[in-house]
Amino acid sequence: MKQINRRDFVKASAMTTLAVAAGASFISSNSSAALRVASRGKRDIRVGIIGCGGRGTGAGGNALEASPDARIVAYGDLFPERIASAQKGLASFGERSKVDPAQCFTGFDAYQGVISVPCDYVILATPPGFRPTHFSAAIAAGRNAFVEKPVAVDPTGIRTMLAAASEVDAKNLRVVAGTQRRHEWCYLEAMQRIRDGAIGRVVAARVFWNMGSLWNVKPDPSRSDVENQVRNWLYHTWLSGDHIVEQHVHNIDIANWAMGIGAGGTESSGRRLAASHPNRCIAVGGRQARVDTREFGHVFDHFAVDFEYAAAEADTTPRFALSMARQQDGTSGRVEEIIYGTTGLARLSSGSAEITGERPWVFKGPNNNPYVQEHIDLQKAIIDGTPLNETAQVAQSTMSAIMGRMAAYSGSEITWDDAVADPMNLMPPSLQFGPFPQASVAIPGQTSQPH
Ligand SMILES: NC(=O)c1ccc[n+]([C@@H]2O[C@H](COP(=O)([O-])OP(=O)(O)OC[C@H]3O[C@@H](n4cnc5c(N)ncnc54)[C@H](O)[C@@H]3O)[C@@H](O)[C@H]2O)c1
Repeated sequence: MKQINRRDFVKASAMTTLAVAAGASFISSNSSAALRVASRGKRDIRVGIIGCGGRGTGAGGNALEASPDARIVAYGDLFPERIASAQKGLASFGERSKVDPAQCFTGFDAYQGVISVPCDYVILATPPGFRPTHFSAAIAAGRNAFVEKPVAVDPTGIRTMLAAASEVDAKNLRVVAGTQRRHEWCYLEAMQRIRDGAIGRVVAARVFWNMGSLWNVKPDPSRSDVENQVRNWLYHTWLSGDHIVEQHVHNIDIANWAMGIGAGGTESSGRRLAASHPNRCIAVGGRQARVDTREFGHVFDHFAVDFEYAAAEADTTPRFALSMARQQDGTSGRVEEIIYGTTGLARLSSGSAEITGERPWVFKGPNNNPYVQEHIDLQKAIIDGTPLNETAQVAQSTMSAIMGRMAAYSGSEITWDDAVADPMNLMPPSLQFGPFPQASVAIPGQTSQPH
């Protein structure tokens, strides 16, 4: 992993500002603020990691790449071997990734240990079922956060997240979410052009995450139900939310972002904070390829959702987004978002963006590494004291995906208001290794309480 120097840090901050804000006076004042921070540079940026798997380790590296002044001060994971592997994975950062064993915490309460260590922000990267508890504890303790997506798996978790989102502002904290497309320059420039009318009024979207299968961990009879499920978390809805939530949330987030622009948006303290959500949806889904419940739990392997959004300003007809997510080997892969307007369309995916229609445009770069940019933006907001709170935005996108899953599992059309208010809480009553029979596969029309 390449370490960026202070000059790169300043450049990257300024580029994002350019793409997001587009306004000469704002850019120059913001760039010089970054320069001031960088040149004085006396301040360590201390980071704690909760969930030291693939992404926790990756995000830790991104935090260290974002600034030469960043260092890891605490690790927490359910399993000690994950902390060891994270430290190994980050060893190229030398002293900046080494942590005293007294500040490494294991078990279900590891998050409390990490939060107790003084730090500038925590990275939350466990399976998402735990996120609402970890996030609300971090915010209650006054910690800024980098919160991986998705941020919940059920409406109860979403309500916890939304309550904590208000506390973020009240406590003057900063939060960046792991929906990295919101920090990628090609997306930011495309959205700015859409905002400026490049495709006319936004009327529809099609968003896809179609791919083959992912990793799985076979159950070990010497382990408890809970341990086996946590180690194989992608395949249990109480932990992952199912792949429509765990993975496809990225693409649904882009539909929400674009529809928010079309609706006039609710953008307040920064354009990337635009938030919108569908008002209702109907969905189909099921499992055909991954049918072994021992290996693949009870999640589906395909979903298709028809999301309905409110009419755009000055329009009367509702708008729609088609969402499709599939994890089946041997099928066509497609990961992208297409936004339709009255005079053109925008085609977006990681690393590329183009607009066709009356005002054609192709993103020619330079593009950034959005995973590092997330940390540059968070660190800069913390140091400069500028507002940055992506909690509500990512909670809305997560809830949109949960609503799609609820509609597919149950076979019923669902409104946003009903879905958000649903009492569903998928977490076990007490968190410990022990018996916890896995849920059965949902059957539309028969599954009244989606699980
Ligand atoms: N933004 C992205 O592009 C992106 C990419 C990959 C993963 N993710 C997200 O990051 C999160 C983690 O995914 P991953 O791929 O790193 O999974 P992973 O299985 O590699 O890592 C998860 C880690 O969390 C630990 N853990 C589980 N329960 C815990 C608990 N209660 N307390 C503390 N630690 C616990 C596990 O032991 C494991 O080390 C997920 O929400 C996933 O959706 C985001």
